[in-house]
Amino acid sequence: MGEVLIQAQDICKSYRTGRESVRVLHGLSLELRRGEAVAVVGPSGAGKSTLLNLLNGLLQADSGQLQLFGRDTAWLDDNGWSEWRRTRIATLFQEGNLIPTLTVARNLAFRCALAGRETNGEQKLLEALDIDATADRYPDQLSGGQRQRAALACAFAMQPALMLADEPTGSLDENTARRVMPLFFDAVRERDLGALIVTHNTELARRCDRMLELRDGVLRPWDSVTSS
Ligand SMILES: Nc1ncnc2c1ncn2[C@@H]1O[C@H](COP(=O)(O)OP(=O)(O)OP(=O)(O)O)[C@@H](O)[C@H]1O
Ligand SMILES: [Mg+2]
Repeated sequence: MGEVLIQAQDICKSYRTGRESVRVLHGLSLELRRGEAVAVVGPSGAGKSTLLNLLNGLLQADSGQLQLFGRDTAWLDDNGWSEWRRTRIATLFQEGNLIPTLTVARNLAFRCALAGRETNGEQKLLEALDIDATADRYPDQLSGGQRQRAALACAFAMQPALMLADEPTGSLDENTARRVMPLFFDAVRERDLGALIVTHNTELARRCDRMLELRDGVLRPWDSVTSS
């Protein structure tokens, strides 16, 4: 069994807007190891994106314990979180996250440089994602699905230990989504990556090692056959 990357216990998170408080996660627990791809499904508003942003340190839990890479994150300061986001934790945001003033190729090179990685194999990555023709374009010159794939290329290029992907195939047609999926599973196998993939795509979810449903503030095993 691979090293434990995520160990989350009893995580609670509410948002406060004015006088109102929205309880999103209450008592959520999760374990994810290297070499494992775990799918998270759940209705809109259930807290899936919130969960990913707690795991990459952009949000802080109200209570609960979170260990990443075997370290208690309670002691981690902003610099520590930033370092992990540069080098170890790739987040593929629902709305994509490319730098608008850089071309696709330069976005890739920049992410590699931030992570302290050599740039190599980027062309192959772009070809695998069928966006090699867009390498010299800026993000606003791409379609939504091309942008999503370019963001995915950047996330893979930084060679993270942990990939948090929020609807990675959300803007893609069925065939393009099928082309993208093996990248996750190859990286999980070959690079011993741990991947937490929020998805509404049941094919992608089923190909993961485990499927979890986020509902009522907690994660539970999800059976795609009996659930609908
Ligand atoms: N900054 C915020 N302030 C207040 N409420 C928020 C904030 N961000 C999210 N929420 C609320 O928290 C709940 C969970 O939101 P979240 O974005 O995590 O859901 P989700 O499962 O990712 O949904 P979707 O499938 O639509 O992306 C929702 O009710 C949302 O309205
Ligand atoms: Mg979301």
